Amino acid sequence: ITSRLTAGPLTGRHVLITSGPTHEPIDPVRYIANRSSGAQGTAIARAARRAGARVTFVTGPADAPLPEGCTIHRVETARQMHETVTQALPADVAIFAAAVADWRVSNAAASKMKKTAGGLPQLEFAENPDILACVSTRADRPGLVIGFAAETDDVVANAITKRRRKGCDWIVANDVSDGTGIMGGTENAVTLVTETGTEDWPRAGKDVVAERLIARIAETLR
Ligand code: CTP
Ligand code: CA
Repeated sequence: ITSRLTAGPLTGRHVLITSGPTHEPIDPVRYIANRSSGAQGTAIARAARRAGARVTFVTGPADAPLPEGCTIHRVETARQMHETVTQALPADVAIFAAAVADWRVSNAAASKMKKTAGGLPQLEFAENPDILACVSTRADRPGLVIGFAAETDDVVANAITKRRRKGCDWIVANDVSDGTGIMGGTENAVTLVTETGTEDWPRAGKDVVAERLIARIAETLR
């Protein structure tokens, strides 16, 4: 019976997870997006389920297979993700693993743009809502709000600043520079940034990192 929750350290808890990229349309056949396989978010959803949580999984268009036993919401844009996340509250824990596009094209075309129109397209951008920051500052905010920070430079320093700026409790920071093989790979090497300091976790499979994060969450909520 797939809908029955196994008893575990997160039984009775609602865990909300965002995952994957968002796609922001330019026209009906083109979009801008971030790189994200959705593998880490999916691994976290699986680990949360194994711990007995009720899991709401909000995902952009990702390659990773969907996690089983979760309430799944598929979205395309950042604004759809924001709306869906807001409607899924309240939650005990919210984990923002999605690679949300920071900008959307504000002058997206309703029909396909053609090369023959002459000249280059002049795209205009608008900033997307910061879903993590919005949820972190709500009065009914989840007790534990966790963001991710994929960085290429000054990883930990940026993550410490980001944690304060966003108002979240923890940041899971990782170095996604070329050559690390983390982007699109099966492994991750993260630094957990909390209110009390930073912890470097050893490079491991994304499933192992997920398991460790969920164990850490369970320990904190206990
Ligand atoms: N995030 C979000 N909504 C956004 C942008 C980011 O929820 N519009 C979340 C991501 O899911 C992640 C965290 O915020 O958990 C940090 O994302 P990141 O892109 O590193 O932070 P930004 O504030 O967008 O800063 P940067 O300029 O480094 O991209
Ligand atoms: Ca960003």
